[in-house]
Amino acid sequence: MKIIMLGAPGAGKGTQAKMIAEKYSIPHISTGDIFRANIKEGTDLGKKAKEYMDKGLLVPDELVVDLVVDRLTWDDTKNGYVLDGFPRTIPQAEALTKALAARGEKVDFAINIDIPDENIIERMGGRRACVTCGATYHIVNIPPKKEGVCDKCGSELILRDDDKPETVRKRLDVYHEQTQPLIDYYTKEGVLKDVDGTVDMMDVFGAIVQILGE
Ligand code: AP5
Ligand code: MG
Ligand code: ZN
Repeated sequence: MKIIMLGAPGAGKGTQAKMIAEKYSIPHISTGDIFRANIKEGTDLGKKAKEYMDKGLLVPDELVVDLVVDRLTWDDTKNGYVLDGFPRTIPQAEALTKALAARGEKVDFAINIDIPDENIIERMGGRRACVTCGATYHIVNIPPKKEGVCDKCGSELILRDDDKPETVRKRLDVYHEQTQPLIDYYTKEGVLKDVDGTVDMMDVFGAIVQILGE
């Protein structure tokens, strides 16, 4: 099962992708997480990516596409994967279609988590992420058991650098301009599925399971 997650920043792509990965035993591949891990380790890729991410801009396609296409050849992708945060531009979608077609494969589901911009700004200010394992929380909606501490691994929870309100607004503009056109792209491919992202996270997941099957 090859799944891609679409939706604005803060729509809940990461939250849902983690649950999908667990239920269907497929890897969760998040380009945002890959970049953040590289930033933490101080790699060249991380240094380049950070310049764009901190401004709320997309990392250039040439730094993303090869990385993902390579990741999709790893052994753990035999039964599929859930891609979170990729593709994010039409050239990225075209590169993915082409790389898959070369192996006689295609995307099975493009899940679009639909949510208005107003809901997003509120969510992002409350998001806290684990520095070690990447788990995400929300101080009001999905709080950790102990404030500031990850339930899963006990590490510190932080506010992401790009979750400041002015950067979130920029990310939303970039989303509408560069990523939203993918909704049309995957509608034409016949694989787009919309889910309402404004409801409780377990209800969002229920709607996704209905689409993917038990
Ligand atoms: P990335 O890490 O992908 O960020 P994003 O798309 O902006 O999305 P987020 O991770 O912020 O949101 P999400 O949809 O995963 O929501 P979450 O589940 O956390 O990318 C970061 C940057 O990297 C980009 O800006 C770009 O620079 C670069 N980049 C990455 N991929 C790239 C690519 N392919 N090309 C170019 N550049 C790329 O949920 C948000 C919050 O809401 C959380 O606090 C959560 O707990 C809460 N929440 C979730 N669901 C619900 C619910 N149903 N009800 C209430 N609260 C909820
Ligand atoms: Mg995410
Ligand atoms: Zn953790």
